[in-house]
This record gives sequence, structure tokens and C-alpha cells, in this order.
Amino acid sequence: MTICYFTASGNCLYVARRIGGTLLSIPQLMRQETIEIEDDAVGIVCPVYAVEMPMMVREFMARAKIRTDYFFFIYTYGMGYAEAFSHAELAAEKVGLTLSYIGAVQMADNYLPIFDMQEQIDTLPQKNVEGQIEQICRDVAERKIQKVMVTAAKKAVMAKYTKRLADNILRKENAQEYIVNDSCVLCGICAKVCPANNISVTDKVTFSDHCEVCYACLHNCPRNAIHLKEEANTVRFRNEHVSLKDIIAANE
Ligand SMILES: Cc1cc2nc3c(=O)[nH]c(=O)nc-3n(C[C@H](O)[C@H](O)[C@H](O)COP(=O)(O)O)c2cc1C
Repeated sequence: MTICYFTASGNCLYVARRIGGTLLSIPQLMRQETIEIEDDAVGIVCPVYAVEMPMMVREFMARAKIRTDYFFFIYTYGMGYAEAFSHAELAAEKVGLTLSYIGAVQMADNYLPIFDMQEQIDTLPQKNVEGQIEQICRDVAERKIQKVMVTAAKKAVMAKYTKRLADNILRKENAQEYIVNDSCVLCGICAKVCPANNISVTDKVTFSDHCEVCYACLHNCPRNAIHLKEEANTVRFRNEHVSLKDIIAANE
């Protein structure tokens, strides 16, 4: 089994590890000229962003040549995934892949514009994360079929409305609006955890124009020096089973 994952604050890496098999980082795969993956089972584990998948995962789905008898897609999310399942089904359909199983794990929501990270951490026990992951592990091990049906009418509605929400939130130039405060010691960790190679650190931190809006730089900064405009949350989130070293290894 092979799992391709995308992570900013560790939830997806943790879930991918728990399911098992060979783990491949999507940001690293995307730096290859050709992406070919063949295994008895192949899965994607990624976060829900603006009720769909991250931009890079969308691009990965379009580029990767995946050959398998059992293709599965697992989202991690915080508040709700709405049409994210349908987006996965449509992305698979577009490249001729049959999606055998789709699931989601509700975890801490790392979306800083809306959520208080301390509250997300404190309320985590109510979400029964381990129970959700165990169910998915069992299902995948048994090669369970769990599909989502997308009707033609739904496809039309999604094309018209849902995409607009993602397009507004996931703007590639978003990082140019981040603020780096005086606590920054130019350690360069933000550049190492960025899955898009969008940050350079010299005598200052510079953001380029292809941000994935994953907030890996904000959540993993050891000094909490990077902020959104009008955001001064003192707490950041990283999955408790995942280290900074793991995030760097995944995204550098
Ligand atoms: C830009 C952005 C948009 C998000 N949109 C959603 C969303 O629509 N619904 C949701 O439940 N969670 C949303 N989230 C939260 C993440 O899906 C969730 O925290 C995920 O588990 C993070 O995975 P990671 O720790 O592997 O990066 C969003 C997070 C970010 C950064």
C-alpha cells in the first residue's frame, strides 16, 4: 500500500502513518518531472481547505499516473467538509481513476482566521480522533468500498458556487500579506516547512507569490513570529504525535 499525503500542522501525516504502508509526501512528489505510482492500494490523505482539497493536491491528482485496484481518499478536517467528498470524486473521475473508498477524520481545525487554537486543542478529546482513525484503518485493511455519488445537477451547482469559496480563500498571493514581527530570529524554519518553496530567508523573511495557504509557516514558527493581518493568536497548533523535524522532512 502507498499513501501520498499533504500536511501543514501534522494531522494528515499522523493519519497517514496510522493507516500505514509506504508514505510519500505530495510536495516532494510534485518536484519530480513525472509521477507514477503503482501498488495494490493507493491512498491520498490531505486536509480539507475551503470545503475541498488543497490546490497542490488538486494539481497532484491531475498530474500523477496512479495505477491500483483500490484507490482511497481520506480527508482530515476541523469544522465541516461539505462538498469535499464530491470534489475528490470529480478529481478522480477526471483522470479515469475509480475512487473505491472515501472517508474523513475530524481533528483540530488549524484555520487561524476563524478558530482559537487553544480551544481547538482543549476540545480535541470530544472528537474521538483515535476511534475515527481506527475505523478507517479497519475499512482500508478490509478494502471496503465506500463511495460518494455526484449527480449531474450537483456537478453544475458545485461548478457555479463552491469553487468560488475556495478561489477567494486560497489565493496564491496570500502570503504576501503575512506579517513577520520582531520576535523573528531568521532561523529559516518557515522556509523549511513550506510545502510550496514560497519563502526565502536572508536578512529578512520574503514570501513569494505561490503560497498554498496551508499556514505551515505560521503554525511551525518556534517564535510565533508570523501572523495574519489583524491576528495575534498566542497559540499555534501541531499534532501532538508529529514533531517539527517530521514536518520539515515532509515539506522541505
Ligand atoms: C486555508 C485552510 C482552509 C481550511 N478549510 C477548512 C474547511 O473548509 N473545513 C474544515 O473542516 N477545516 C478546514 N481547515 C482545517 C484543516 O482542514 C484541518 O485543520 C486539517 O486537519 C489540517 O491538516 P494538517 O494538520 O495535516 O495540515 C482549513 C485549514 C486551512 C489552513
